[in-house]
Amino acid sequence: MDIKLLTSSGVPFSTLPPSYVRPESDRPRLSEVVVDGLDIPVIDLSAAVDRSRLVSLVGDACTNFGIFQVINHGVGSGAAEEMLRVAAEFFELPAEEKMKLYSDDPAKTMRLSTSFNVKKEKVHNWRDYLRLHCHPLPKYAPQWPSNPPSFRETVSNYCQEIRELGFRLEDLISESLGLEKSYIRKVLGDHQQGQHMAVNFYPPCPQPELTYGLPSHTDPNALTILLQDQLVAGLQVLNDGRWVAVNPHPGALVVNVGDQIQVALSNGRYMSVWHRAITNTKTARLSVSSFLCPEDDALISPAPELTRGDDGSLVAIYRGFTYAEYYKKFWSRNLDQEHCLELFKNTIE
Ligand code: OGA
Ligand code: NI
Repeated sequence: MDIKLLTSSGVPFSTLPPSYVRPESDRPRLSEVVVDGLDIPVIDLSAAVDRSRLVSLVGDACTNFGIFQVINHGVGSGAAEEMLRVAAEFFELPAEEKMKLYSDDPAKTMRLSTSFNVKKEKVHNWRDYLRLHCHPLPKYAPQWPSNPPSFRETVSNYCQEIRELGFRLEDLISESLGLEKSYIRKVLGDHQQGQHMAVNFYPPCPQPELTYGLPSHTDPNALTILLQDQLVAGLQVLNDGRWVAVNPHPGALVVNVGDQIQVALSNGRYMSVWHRAITNTKTARLSVSSFLCPEDDALISPAPELTRGDDGSLVAIYRGFTYAEYYKKFWSRNLDQEHCLELFKNTIE
């Protein structure tokens, strides 16, 4: 079926179209989700917190959860609120206006799309999304939507603040792995590292038990910083075999470490977290994912310090690759296949 934006039809769906229905074995099983009681760590990044304590909190969160929330993170509440506001306004634009930006070609650096990878997937997802490249801003911002009129300025401001936070987090993560503070930042390309954004819109869904906003996946980039709707929950992470809701925390941003840092650089010490977005019948949900990525030619491989086995031998689980190679492979597939990183494993006897 040829699918287009969920938000272009103008009328709410009363039943789920068949192409969104998951097979019985692959449904969200919402009644089994841990909705409270298990807290994803909330880490206070204010300067008052002792650095070595911060490093150990980040290390514990990465080891035990692969995801955490941060508060007092330096991204102004104004910048975050404005970002969500302009995102909501964007998705309220008339269908004809939005369809001008529609594309299902993942190679496009600016596109409004739907689901995940429409041409590759068998079952679709209940999501529309706008994808933007954000670095360098002078190159990419002029490609972005010009409506709403404040879009480019608001999103540019937000992107710059997020980038600063991303660098601070990369430094904390490097230190938590016992590496030099700037290790990850430098491998990713320092100030040249890439930055992409997905503005996700999940409309109310007639049958949330039968489909996903986004099915279980890990993020292919290095580090993701998610601004989620402050009122509507929907993000869930896999922890110890159970799906756990990451409930919105006032003013917090959600940080999760993607394939590049957690698996490749850390040699499997920190696992890139499996997460998904679910839908609900009543309220649309917005989220803004900022993806920090290695620059295209960055060579990603396990950090030499982290590949030494107990007997002193060198064991790198993954082979080295450039990010361009990884990214191309990622988008040539769908989210339900074998994990993309499996294709980059060394064969170790
Ligand atoms: C993503 C993602 C989760 C959410 O954009 O990669 O996982 O809650 N989003 O929207
Ligand atoms: Ni994700």
